[in-house]
Amino acid sequence: MFFLAIETSCDETSLALGQVVESQNLGSFWSKINSIEIIAALTSSQVSQHEIFGGVVPELGARLHAENIHWLLEKLLNLAAIRLGLTVQDLLFRINIIFVTAEVGLVSALRVGVEFAKSLSYFLEKQTGRKVGWQPVNHLEGHLFSCFYQQVIITDETTGMVCSTRQSLPSFTDEDLFPHLHLLVSGGNTQILWLTSPNQWTIVGRTIDDAAGECFDKIGRMVGLPYPGGVWLSQIAGDQEANLLNFPLSMRQAESFDVSYSGLKTAVRYFLQKTTVPGFKIEQLLTKSELNILLNSPLDQILEPKLQLVKQVCVSAQTVIIEQLVRQFKRAMAHYQPKSIGLSGGVSANPLLRKKIQSLNIKPVLIAHPKLTGDNAIMIGLAGYRLVNLNCNN
Ligand code: KG4
Repeated sequence: MFFLAIETSCDETSLALGQVVESQNLGSFWSKINSIEIIAALTSSQVSQHEIFGGVVPELGARLHAENIHWLLEKLLNLAAIRLGLTVQDLLFRINIIFVTAEVGLVSALRVGVEFAKSLSYFLEKQTGRKVGWQPVNHLEGHLFSCFYQQVIITDETTGMVCSTRQSLPSFTDEDLFPHLHLLVSGGNTQILWLTSPNQWTIVGRTIDDAAGECFDKIGRMVGLPYPGGVWLSQIAGDQEANLLNFPLSMRQAESFDVSYSGLKTAVRYFLQKTTVPGFKIEQLLTKSELNILLNSPLDQILEPKLQLVKQVCVSAQTVIIEQLVRQFKRAMAHYQPKSIGLSGGVSANPLLRKKIQSLNIKPVLIAHPKLTGDNAIMIGLAGYRLVNLNCNN
């Protein structure tokens, strides 16, 4: 089975072409999802176009998806055809199904992907005379199931093409992995999910206000980092763990497994509004040379007070955001006693978070490959395949 997956929910246009490598031994969910080969995937990021506005502009995002999706498909088909030794037309006509992100995201951006999928499916049906369906996929399910895909992922730096090659993996049964406890941390959502099977799950913890990614981004913006602040903040903080500025850790007394980030965000804002450090102004964009110093120097080698302050805020805020996530996740682990745990979503690219989840006392720990953490069509292909081939509807 060949599939095309499309992701246009926010500020990345992403396409992936995959194939399910049939085998006799496709019993468990794990073996099914890992039987997928990603022939080629490409992502066109809009970050530089939104950066000047300090955040995503939905209408601009939708227009850019509409502009980029055609040439991206053309490039994807060309690269995939070379990889498989087929013509582009042969490859296009082999597609059996199109998976497309249809919910959770910016409505106008999602529509571009969905309309494209519908039109392409109509065209392919007319051309080939056989059914080529299109399947709506939930973006968050894409994140959730990305951690179960543990094939080797390779990036070709010249073309930007991402693909997978197979490796021998442990043969986990469903009983080995489920029940599974999952930490999904993305730009708009923070959830702890309890999966009794690949088809059945409940959200047992969530943010009661801001998502962790949103908090990273907003604090990044306050200290003058470019968009997306979370990525910059994480690079500046590195894996140093210290709450140097004593920022508050919320939900300490909570009975639930929820998290909350508005207290931290407000504390950082008040702290920065009150600071008298010379040269610092809240939300004033730092210069390239200031960013370079912050990225390349440890705290004790930064001489300028303003940059010292920014570094201290980055290290402290990251420490608190991650401490709260890990603390609530550990409490949920103790309560639910899962067979496996998982981590996914844009914030799961954070090295400190990855390290802390990896070190939890349980095996297996399934962490999404770094290439699958941000918005990408590969995860939409994985979640779409789960929906249609495992016949599962949560
Ligand atoms: O999963 P994603 O692409 O968005 C949604 O699906 O909502 O995640 C984007 C979020 C942004 O908030 C971005 O700042 C954050 O993930 N992010 C990070 C890191 N890389 C991306 N946050 C902390 N550390 C990182 N290394």
